[in-house]
Amino acid sequence: MIDFSTQYLGLKLSGPIVVSSTPLSESIDNVRRMEDAGASAIVLTSLFEEQLELESKALDEDLSRGTESFAESLGYLPDLDDYRMTQEVYLEHLRRAKAAVSIPIMASLNGATTGGWVRFAKDMELAGADAIELNTYALATSRSQTSGELELQLLDLVAAVTEAVKVPVAVKLSRSFTSLPHLTARLEAVGAKGVVIFNRFYQPDFDIETLEVRPTLHFSTPSELLSRLHWAAILYGNINIDLAISGGVHSAEDVLKGIMAGAGVTMMASALHIHGIEHIGRVLADVRYWLEKREYASLWETRGCLSRRSVPDTSPFDRGNYIKTLSSYSLRQTVAAF
Ligand SMILES: Cc1cc2nc3c(=O)[nH]c(=O)nc-3n(C[C@H](O)[C@H](O)[C@H](O)COP(=O)(O)O)c2cc1C
Repeated sequence: MIDFSTQYLGLKLSGPIVVSSTPLSESIDNVRRMEDAGASAIVLTSLFEEQLELESKALDEDLSRGTESFAESLGYLPDLDDYRMTQEVYLEHLRRAKAAVSIPIMASLNGATTGGWVRFAKDMELAGADAIELNTYALATSRSQTSGELELQLLDLVAAVTEAVKVPVAVKLSRSFTSLPHLTARLEAVGAKGVVIFNRFYQPDFDIETLEVRPTLHFSTPSELLSRLHWAAILYGNINIDLAISGGVHSAEDVLKGIMAGAGVTMMASALHIHGIEHIGRVLADVRYWLEKREYASLWETRGCLSRRSVPDTSPFDRGNYIKTLSSYSLRQTVAAF
């Protein structure tokens, strides 16, 4: 029997597939189905900085005037309408999820700046969260804000959360940082135990008839995996904290590629929305079959075997790849033309 165990954030996990933050885990029945299908951990849906700040403001107003209600105040943030899970509801859901399954349950906080809301990480820990995933979606929209300032803001935020809790903290990074090995080393220095690459970038679409800009959410395709593999392969061996890949993991091949690039775990969201929660079991069976056929004793022994530090020729990860890819393409085109 192949040993499927993996490690992530200092936790020993039963397998390589973690369910990433998605509304699917808002139902306890689904949480149980995820464990039954073979998920080795679950990241719950996020609570947002804006929502937490708003709730605490609403509470202050309630206490001072006794009039406004939470629900009313939350309504002032129309874009967050879908995320009305209040703090108490979230913590209660977390406790129930913990009681329902034996795999680790990770809570998710989503924010960009340091503030009082960060204290909520402690409440998540007290409610039983085995780890905190901090989603740090922030965009530079001002010409006066430098990338260095954005990184410092991120580091301050991560330091505030790691100081607030004892459980491990993972940082879900956006893809737009330039020097990821350096940034990740600094995240490690402020106490992060892992990075999740990457947060998906939800770009608004333009309606050219109505001249409106609309938010869009499409499920991922496996093509999104390549940038994650590339960065995981570069980071592995370069940093001392764990890596998780999120984005484009749909099949057994994707899971194997993620682990071979150096990730401790691969995460799934879109694939479960598209194929159902039981898809996890099918993918794990395929991973097992693949490993058995090649007589591996464990999944872990494949970890990092295609990372930048393991392969004899690193040029596919570097500038050499760019030159080779472009020049081989133009050569082919020229030959075909004759
Ligand atoms: C419907 C939906 C809701 C999501 N909600 C959250 C969220 O609350 N917090 C978060 O960090 N990521 C959230 N994500 C992002 C996923 O956790 C994941 O990082 C992303 O979808 C890429 O993985 P995938 O290719 O497996 O979908 C959501 C994704 C989907 C599809």
